[in-house]
Amino acid sequence: MADWKDQKWQVSMEIKYDFNFMMSEFIGPENGVAKDEVDALADRAEAVHRDLVSKRKDGTLPFFDLPYQDTSATKVLADELAGEFDNFVLLGIGGSALGPIALQSALRHPHHNVRNKKERGGRPRMFFVDNVDPDQFSSLIESIKLDKTVFNVITKSGGTSETMAQFMISRGLVKKELGKKALKKHFVCITDPEKGNLRKIVRDEKIRALAVPPLVGGRFSVFTPVGLLSAAVSGIDIDELLAGAASMDMRTSMPGLWENPAYLSAALQYLADTKKGKKISVMMPYSQALKDAADWYRQIWAESLGKRLDLQGNVVHTGQTPVKALGATDQHSQVQLYMEGPNDKTFTFLRVEEFDTKVTIPKDFTDIPGAAFLIGRSLNQLINAEQAATETALMQAGRPCATIRVPTVNPFTLGQILYMFEVQTAFAGGLYGIDPFDQPGVEEGKLLTYAMMDRPGYEKKKKELEKIKKKAEYVI
Ligand code: PA5
Repeated sequence: MADWKDQKWQVSMEIKYDFNFMMSEFIGPENGVAKDEVDALADRAEAVHRDLVSKRKDGTLPFFDLPYQDTSATKVLADELAGEFDNFVLLGIGGSALGPIALQSALRHPHHNVRNKKERGGRPRMFFVDNVDPDQFSSLIESIKLDKTVFNVITKSGGTSETMAQFMISRGLVKKELGKKALKKHFVCITDPEKGNLRKIVRDEKIRALAVPPLVGGRFSVFTPVGLLSAAVSGIDIDELLAGAASMDMRTSMPGLWENPAYLSAALQYLADTKKGKKISVMMPYSQALKDAADWYRQIWAESLGKRLDLQGNVVHTGQTPVKALGATDQHSQVQLYMEGPNDKTFTFLRVEEFDTKVTIPKDFTDIPGAAFLIGRSLNQLINAEQAATETALMQAGRPCATIRVPTVNPFTLGQILYMFEVQTAFAGGLYGIDPFDQPGVEEGKLLTYAMMDRPGYEKKKKELEKIKKKAEYVI
């Protein structure tokens, strides 16, 4: 087994950003970005870089330094929980769930939960509940033994309605079935170190807890205990993950656009959007393991860049719409549209050079040429041939494509991918001139939910809602 601390191994595990087919040389000036257009951004890029560096230095953007944190408290708690419980249920939503889910899908055995305890390396079964669907919630509760279950409640703000509702329901169930005294043992929380309702509950009830650094927002929190605790509980090497992020930090600290993969990728997406009309950004991993990394990307790109106002208060309505697709599956669902529909998209493929296993196609149907050509070939060759073929076909149709080449999926490479997209998003925010770290647009929906749920103080909103309801007569 290679040691991830070995320098040579780390170099061999470097992910590569291949942006050939984003460029005008391949897809023409109407759809592709010209080198000159990138160069013309140099002054702006330098200013954004200086701003990010100074915010990193003064501590206002602590997500940058998460790869260098001390993980010992997280690992100790993770081992404790893994020793005590057979089921680990994460309760959270948005940035408090998508990072943990992406890590789990990529780095755990795909059928972890159906394996026996020995096959799971003595680790608990892992469940992620990031919705308030009553059927999903109750079917999970029906399927697990509460006395063998720990609930990991994650909310940075400490007050998100969905997560608090899940928390209150599971608390009620544990209390009813195992008694009040069991509450302390069966819950572990992750929240702001000082503020919020959950922190107060943690203090009052002396529940085990870890903190999210105050200035790290949900979608930038995958390298805090938000992502790390569940990963460590399930046996993922979180230090290797952070080492991968640190190695990407070396590359994404470079000031020049052409030498920094995160900046370059941000610049190409920004130019494709603002100059070539590519309003949609499709991320398409050709790897089942990376499917949820695309889901995580969908949130960080959407919530960070989709903004009404720029930093000066002008109405700008920025942001590409991120779309998640999966290769090869979605070749039979989406690619027809991608090839021949509106040319309003960019495509970012995640391509895995070496899968963990090799599956060879056996000798059969030798007399059917349409099947026989597959004999002796592997699924590994097939999936990567399909990736290259789709990318080339899209390029030939004048559609901008980039590929992140991932040597293999492991904590070190995933750490690089996620960190690169975090920096890419922060940098793109600077190019658009908006604040990528807030989310004012989700507020109104929250307030209306409070009104519908009769939260005191929202009576006026409730009246507004009732008026709208009365007027809405177009239903058949
Ligand atoms: O990225 C974000 O900030 C949001 O998506 C939050 O993660 C999400 O709203 C959940 O917030 P909280 O962790 O406070 O419950």
